[in-house]
Amino acid sequence: MLHYIIFLAFLSAVQTAPTAGLRSRASISALGQPAISAFTPYTHYASTGYCKASETLTWTCGVNCQANPDFEPIASGGNGDTIQFWFVGYDPSLSSVIVSHQGTDPEEIWSLVTDAKIVQVKLNSTLFPELSSDIEVHDGFADEHAKTATDVLSAVQSAMSKYGAKDVTLVGHSLGAAIALLDAVYLPLHIPGASFKFVGYGLPRVGNQAFANYVDAQSTSVTHINNEEDPIPIVPGMDLGYVHPSGELHIQDSGEWTQCPGQDNPSKQCIVGDVANLLDGNLSDHDGPYNGITMGC
Ligand SMILES: *[C@@H]1O[C@H](CO)[C@@H](O)[C@H](O)[C@H]1NC(C)=O
Ligand SMILES: *[C@@H]1O[C@H](CO)[C@@H](O)[C@H](O)[C@H]1NC(C)=O
Repeated sequence: MLHYIIFLAFLSAVQTAPTAGLRSRASISALGQPAISAFTPYTHYASTGYCKASETLTWTCGVNCQANPDFEPIASGGNGDTIQFWFVGYDPSLSSVIVSHQGTDPEEIWSLVTDAKIVQVKLNSTLFPELSSDIEVHDGFADEHAKTATDVLSAVQSAMSKYGAKDVTLVGHSLGAAIALLDAVYLPLHIPGASFKFVGYGLPRVGNQAFANYVDAQSTSVTHINNEEDPIPIVPGMDLGYVHPSGELHIQDSGEWTQCPGQDNPSKQCIVGDVANLLDGNLSDHDGPYNGITMGC
């Protein structure tokens, strides 16, 4: 009996390994225009992350705010300097609480993700209780996330209770996407029963293989959208032990959006294959446009 089970396990290992590889290559596909357009409100919310906290609290930040006119703000914070701006509120059309974090300009994020002094650290066990100790993330991202974590948590809890909401969507661009991805791990540990979604733009790699596997194993829906030859999504390098979770959408030079299954899909239609060499990268692609929207306030 035991031999039989071992034999079956052996057989399935032999059969699934190559098939899984073929399946992930075969299922690279183009996203249709309605699916691309469905991201537009989130893209505007990520862009609005760059606006001053005083203006997102009153939803008077101009075109960025007007793009999502029904939004009901709950709280905002940060100073745009030592603490990235953030805001929390409710979108009645999407029936979702929205959390957005400010990004940073291409040169600044570039120096943060290529800083040789940066190390991988475990996440703070008060903020992230009972996570496996194998999980490690970029030191700088963990620091930035910790600065706003508890304020964001209480704002999300207020918004959920005020609007009877069960869905929470976390967005951000660049550094803001990295902070939002950490929120996508942090908030579910403190808010059981809610449904979480992450939509990040120009996301750098945030953590190690165990981190990426943990993100993939959660019920949270994860999408990270990268634009043309933006080099930020391929740093810090895989050779330094950094891995993206699944959920990549890659915008081609043609403007077509490609669905790239798996972690760090090596296809030329995805960012890892498209920007195979850092010299192929172009930092001007970092801010977009993402279906016509350029990040910033
Ligand atoms: C972990 O986070 C808690 C809550 O924000 C904070 O009080 C504590 O100082 C942090 N611990 C470390 C080691 O940074
Ligand atoms: C980088 O991208 C910008 C904007 O798309 C473009 O104008 C420029 O020519 C690109 N630079 C290189 C070296 O390809």
